[in-house]
Amino acid sequence: MSRIVLGVTGGVAAYKAVMLASRLRQSGHDVDVVLTPAAEAFVTPLSFAAVTGRRAYTDEDLFAPQGEIVHVELAGAADLAIVAPATADFLAKAAHGMADGLLATILLATRAKVLLAPAMESAMWAHPATRRAVAQLRADGRTVLEPAAGHLASGRSGVGRLPEPEEIAQAIARALQPRRLVGASVLVTGGPTREYIDPVRFLSNPSTGRMGLAVAEAARDAGADVTLVLGPSELAVPPGIEVVRVTAAAEMAAAVQARFASADAFIATAAVADLRPREIAPAKVKKADLLMELPLERTTDILAWAGSVRRPQQVLVGFAAETGDLAAEARRKLDQKHCDLIVGNDVGESGAGFATETNRCLFVTADGERQVGPTSKREVGEEIVAFVAHRLGRP
Ligand SMILES: Cc1cc2nc3c(=O)[nH]c(=O)nc-3n(C[C@H](O)[C@H](O)[C@H](O)COP(=O)(O)O)c2cc1C
Repeated sequence: MSRIVLGVTGGVAAYKAVMLASRLRQSGHDVDVVLTPAAEAFVTPLSFAAVTGRRAYTDEDLFAPQGEIVHVELAGAADLAIVAPATADFLAKAAHGMADGLLATILLATRAKVLLAPAMESAMWAHPATRRAVAQLRADGRTVLEPAAGHLASGRSGVGRLPEPEEIAQAIARALQPRRLVGASVLVTGGPTREYIDPVRFLSNPSTGRMGLAVAEAARDAGADVTLVLGPSELAVPPGIEVVRVTAAAEMAAAVQARFASADAFIATAAVADLRPREIAPAKVKKADLLMELPLERTTDILAWAGSVRRPQQVLVGFAAETGDLAAEARRKLDQKHCDLIVGNDVGESGAGFATETNRCLFVTADGERQVGPTSKREVGEEIVAFVAHRLGRP
């Protein structure tokens, strides 16, 4: 199993870190717990030593009289480091690369993957200084988990709770997964397209791009070189993903066509408009001059195009957003578009489809069907990546 540094900082949720340490130990990991001085005001090193079966470290160990360089040893031995809970103070320090205590020094010295699980009052989480710290940490390649919403220590409710230890343990398990797509090139589309009628009017749909980003992130974390062709989306694209921004279906098709041959896998999550106005007026059409019927024409079916030119070794994944017979429609798409997997979304259901955090899907392949979820879009992304890796013959 793995060796994990569990950093604990001075927040009310520090007691949950004891449960997390215990959970990680039970999964077979060796857990080196490192407490900040403020954390010691909430929990004791003894609690952690008792549940991990190993000594826990404090700032006294940074300048150990025996001359061991504890921070280098722990940093070098770690397969992963997680800070849970991470205070606002600790996020700010880590974002600036400060190393004024054992835990902060380990985070700078390690080459292992670093996760941070913040927990604090909503006002602290929302403060621009914390937002800046989180953005900087993410830009540096750190994984900052989202705090949960609910009851806070102050008695108020809001966003800022430490996620449950089980949830953090799952994020750790994901981060420790083998990087099955190292060297593979994965092309993803995401978001809606906009088909302009004139400079101020367009046809579109409610897609946000979240599913595309989730797939792109999961592929990146599996080690793939990821290109995301993204329609208009408000969402920030995380680091490590090459993004090609497009607006109309024709631009998306051109961007995919230019890159498809060099991709090992193509995952088409975008909600591409099927129709576009036959003509785009160069200037805003006056209200009185608007036609009551809009002459339309079909856009390129990007997935069908990819299916028609694909090499057998390439992996092709499409999405089907349906309100009717999901399984039948997904299977029709699978066959007609020569795909390896169609992920069916019932967009009529709540908690699935457009503009939601979660998704319930039906995975349809030549071998059969299976339900995935309800779960986060990220988990759906992980499942798709696992399918792609399997098809590419990567264990
Ligand atoms: C009772 C109490 C509860 C606290 N809870 C939190 C918390 O949940 N999140 C947080 O960011 N800071 C919290 N703080 C403030 C931190 O303890 C303080 O910023 C400290 O300097 C953090 O040190 P560290 O980041 O080195 O652990 C709390 C302080 C007290 C006294």
